[in-house]
Amino acid sequence: MRRPWIGGNWKMHKTIGEALELARALKAGLPAADSVEVVVAPPYTALKVVADELRGAAVQLAAQNIHWADQGAYTGEISPVMVRDTGCRQVIIGHSERRQWFGETDELINKKIGACLNHDLEPVFCVGETLEEREAGRVEEVLTRQVREGLRGFNRGEAARGVIAYEPVWAIGTGKTATPETAQQVHSFIRDLLAGLYDKTVASAKRIVYGGSMTPETARGLITQPDIDGGLIGGASLKAESFLAIVKECI
Ligand code: 13P
Repeated sequence: MRRPWIGGNWKMHKTIGEALELARALKAGLPAADSVEVVVAPPYTALKVVADELRGAAVQLAAQNIHWADQGAYTGEISPVMVRDTGCRQVIIGHSERRQWFGETDELINKKIGACLNHDLEPVFCVGETLEEREAGRVEEVLTRQVREGLRGFNRGEAARGVIAYEPVWAIGTGKTATPETAQQVHSFIRDLLAGLYDKTVASAKRIVYGGSMTPETARGLITQPDIDGGLIGGASLKAESFLAIVKECI
């Protein structure tokens, strides 16, 4: 059985004070059951204070991105060593917003996943097609490329680390949640891809979560699908009430 994983990607939201407030509300409202892995990804500036606030709570901390190098002359970047130092154990890698606005390629994403593995950080490896690609019937081609290139060079033990987030770009921030059937189809395809690249054991153990306008209303239909193991939540993770409601749907 795969333990459900629910992550809140706060994106470029929340000052330190706002982040603390949200962290406190999450801590107070978190269900006692630990059958779900709960993760939050605040902006860099709030990682340390949120880590301190959540110490002892059953919430893991993720960064939203890292540089691949341990240190160096890379003005404006943050290294895996630095995020680990704040208490992070997971990192979102290759989010479509990074691919779209910051030119992240499959090759770069592969390097960043490698950096995660070198520093004992679990990658939350994001993949997903654009609307244009879906309409052109290229979903499987695009996902095959993203998964294969993102995991290039990693052995089965390495590929088993962390989770994959399927985030169709057309569903992110648009209110157009993928239907459970559409998402299930892609999740099952990704699992088959992993079986082909590695083996059935890796494929069946890997958690593949859905992201894209997931709300308390749409969560249950999605996460009860056989190959959907949770969600990566944007908008609905910015309020404790809606994020916790999604967590509760997974218990
Ligand atoms: P929304 O839930 O706001 O659509 O964002 C999803 C997402 O991009 C999570 O990483």
